Amino acid sequence: MTQYQNITPVPVIEIQSLVKSFGDNHVLRNYSLTINQSENIVVLGKSGCGKSVLIKCIVGLLPYEGGSLRVFGQEVSKLTQIELDEIRARIGFVFQSSALYDSMTVRENLEFPLRRHGKHKTRAEIDEMVKETLENVGLLNAINLMPSELSGGMRKRIGLARALILHPEVMLYDEPTTGLDPITSREIINLMLDVQKKYNTTSIIISHDMNCAKLTANKLSVMVDGINYMEGSFDEVSNAKDQKVHPFFE
Ligand SMILES: Nc1ncnc2c1ncn2[C@@H]1O[C@H](COP(=O)(O)OP(=O)(O)O)[C@@H](O)[C@H]1O
Ligand SMILES: [Mg+2]
Repeated sequence: MTQYQNITPVPVIEIQSLVKSFGDNHVLRNYSLTINQSENIVVLGKSGCGKSVLIKCIVGLLPYEGGSLRVFGQEVSKLTQIELDEIRARIGFVFQSSALYDSMTVRENLEFPLRRHGKHKTRAEIDEMVKETLENVGLLNAINLMPSELSGGMRKRIGLARALILHPEVMLYDEPTTGLDPITSREIINLMLDVQKKYNTTSIIISHDMNCAKLTANKLSVMVDGINYMEGSFDEVSNAKDQKVHPFFE
């Protein structure tokens, strides 16, 4: 997808030589990537290579040992809890597992981020925001259902709605279409495109789904052995004659 690019790119997320290990498991080894405002970057990489770890570092859910990771100009490891909460309120995170609270209704799941970040909202305002967001993902009629009553595709939509409710500037999608049938997958992709258009979001999309990558990305980045191994347009990366990159497009 081609998108309007600012003449002077404004970096939103700047990752430089990021290092993250779990004991002897060296996951990120000098990983560098810059995402500018309004860019939508798809990160490809083998299962278990560190894609989810990367986005968890971005939102401060995992600490890192080395390098630099700046979000909205601020080094994540140096933030206080309050500053981190402020940054998280500007970022919508769609988890790989949808991560809904099973004991809460859809309405309560959506109210959760509002209570946490959207302080001083009245009952009526909260109600309005929940309904508007559910309408955006086409699931207003599911408002009183429990997560166990939802299909996989519906859960993904509610996960997306929960990430959207605070109108974030940045969206992080962790495998948004994995495990979905092609039709549901296309519906989620369409929603992601609506979100890009409507809110002019900047996004990182982790995906193995080439259709999703082709439709949602204006840039592709391939993670190999803990580094940003290759970066470019969909055509550049998909046509690369590189044995570590080529298999993704076979
Ligand atoms: N909280 C954790 N504790 C220990 N190891 C972890 C943790 N989270 C992820 N890992 C390890 O980090 C590596 C990358 O995981 P992950 O980022 O989830 O992969 P993927 O690219 O499939 O999203 C894997 O080897 C995984 O076992
Ligand atoms: Mg993952």
